[in-house]
Amino acid sequence: MDGAAAAPGSTTRLRVESVDGPEAAAERVLREVEATVASHPRGLISFATGGTYKAFFPKLAAAINSGQLPMASLLCTHLDEYLGYGPERPGGMVHELVTACPPLADLLRQGSFLPVPGEGDAPSLEAHRQRLQRAGGIRLQLLGIGRNGHLAFNEPGAPFDGTFRKVQLSESTRRDAEARFRSLDPEGPGVPTEAASAGLGDIQSAGRLILVALGAAKADAVHAMLHGPVDPSCPASVVRRHPDALVLLDAAAAGRAVV
Ligand code: PGA
Repeated sequence: MDGAAAAPGSTTRLRVESVDGPEAAAERVLREVEATVASHPRGLISFATGGTYKAFFPKLAAAINSGQLPMASLLCTHLDEYLGYGPERPGGMVHELVTACPPLADLLRQGSFLPVPGEGDAPSLEAHRQRLQRAGGIRLQLLGIGRNGHLAFNEPGAPFDGTFRKVQLSESTRRDAEARFRSLDPEGPGVPTEAASAGLGDIQSAGRLILVALGAAKADAVHAMLHGPVDPSCPASVVRRHPDALVLLDAAAAGRAVV
């Protein structure tokens, strides 16, 4: 299945590769991060959260702790944050990232991890966007995909030129996050209804995109991303407009996406 997918409506030839599963995907992504850091020290790397990257963050932590990835060369950020969730609050994306990869807590303290502000107000999000720009813009953007084709919290219908903003979560996205919130905070209020998210325009402006999809639950979304129209009905289809995007799929996620 490896190769370039010439999907209808594409303006670029997207690179699609198969991976054997979460561990292999994590290794592949780590190599990409290492290559980015080697070619662009302090180039901004933007992480995605979620189950897709569960195997990646311990490997990232090990690479940083062993010195294989020099801490001083790392500058990072991420895609989105639940509204009202600061870095210390379990359930939040920054909390998930620093828990999965403890060296990120040091980077946060040093100001080398730029967190998405969970307040969600327009001035704080615009300030965040400008901070990313001052840091040279995002060099490497890691992405997952939602079952409904969302990218970050850009749900179907989100504009391709959107920037950081407050968004409403779709019901399917909230359902998918239920188990995660129940395990983190069983007595808590459950899945938030709103988040602050990078827009599809922000994502498009990254130097390189890597999207990972694992498991059969993603197969329909992957098929729509690669073979459906390039339009906001499938936000992830925007990757087909990017000049330097790589999609990594395991066999189950690729099930319907023969390329
Ligand atoms: P997941 O989420 O990695 O937990 O499947 C990805 C997403 O919804 O974007």
